[in-house]
Amino acid sequence: MEDSSNNIRPCALITGSSRGIGRAIAVRFAKSGVDVAVNYSREGGKSESAAKALVEEFKSLGVNAVSIKADISKKDEVKYLIAETISNLGRLDYLVLNAAKAPFKPIEKLFERELNDLVRTNYMGNIFCVQEALSYLEAASGKIVFISSLGSKYYNASYPLGSMKAAMEAVVRDLSETLSKKGISVNAVSGGIVKTDSFKVLRQYVEGLDMMPESFFVTPEEIADVVYFLCSGQSRGISGQTIVVDRGMSNSLFRNFTK
Ligand SMILES: NC(=O)c1ccc[n+]([C@@H]2O[C@H](COP(=O)([O-])OP(=O)(O)OC[C@H]3O[C@@H](n4cnc5c(N)ncnc54)[C@H](OP(=O)(O)O)[C@@H]3O)[C@@H](O)[C@H]2O)c1
Repeated sequence: MEDSSNNIRPCALITGSSRGIGRAIAVRFAKSGVDVAVNYSREGGKSESAAKALVEEFKSLGVNAVSIKADISKKDEVKYLIAETISNLGRLDYLVLNAAKAPFKPIEKLFERELNDLVRTNYMGNIFCVQEALSYLEAASGKIVFISSLGSKYYNASYPLGSMKAAMEAVVRDLSETLSKKGISVNAVSGGIVKTDSFKVLRQYVEGLDMMPESFFVTPEEIADVVYFLCSGQSRGISGQTIVVDRGMSNSLFRNFTK
């Protein structure tokens, strides 16, 4: 995905990319010759060491990379995240809004603190990222891809994150209209069920999930491929859409997993 006009490598920032789906997206970009900013939120733990190892791996592939600790729910940290991306990598072509965090419990049982965190991390944080990145994305005629989930449309008793995903899919539609005038494309990828760290918790709350055949589980790489496609010129006819990548799981309401 090299910028053929001047041989400058494009740059991708993927929020929450030291592990899980974000990591697979970061790898997809780096292996395709894109410089990558790897973001994580927790200091001094596994995420930080994983982010640093990823940066070294990417540099050995011949692209430039940087790891940046920033909590997207805090506007000043988002300012820092974008500033560090630009000062280390020089530009920003692709902003992938992947980071998410939410408790698994019914909406009516959320404490005020949890409700605040839910909205700040999964709605406001994404908008902070877009606002801070806007001028750089405009300069690069860039792309924004949001990572959504089936919870935006389907009920799950313990998944308040679904309502934030629904709100963000509306934001994606609205931004695609307003930002197209600046040459920025905005789309989303909605994933089915992926076996990441969050799945280990989800399976405790979704009855029958363990009965789901292996063939319905989506791999992080399958999501990453569609994100990459949406950042490529091949997706030029797509705007404001949420592309579902769930191996067809949501096509049928009535599936007998016991067979
Ligand atoms: N797993 C699934 O089945 C599935 C399905 C469809 C869609 N999705 C979506 O795909 C995305 C990634 O999911 P995943 O399963 O890979 O998640 P995960 O394994 O739980 O990882 C979440 C990532 O988000 C980061 N993060 C959380 N809060 C953050 C904050 N405030 N600021 C910056 N980074 C933050 C984490 O960073 P730290 O490591 O520093 O905590 C981590 O890198 C999410 O948007 C999720 O909703 C997941």
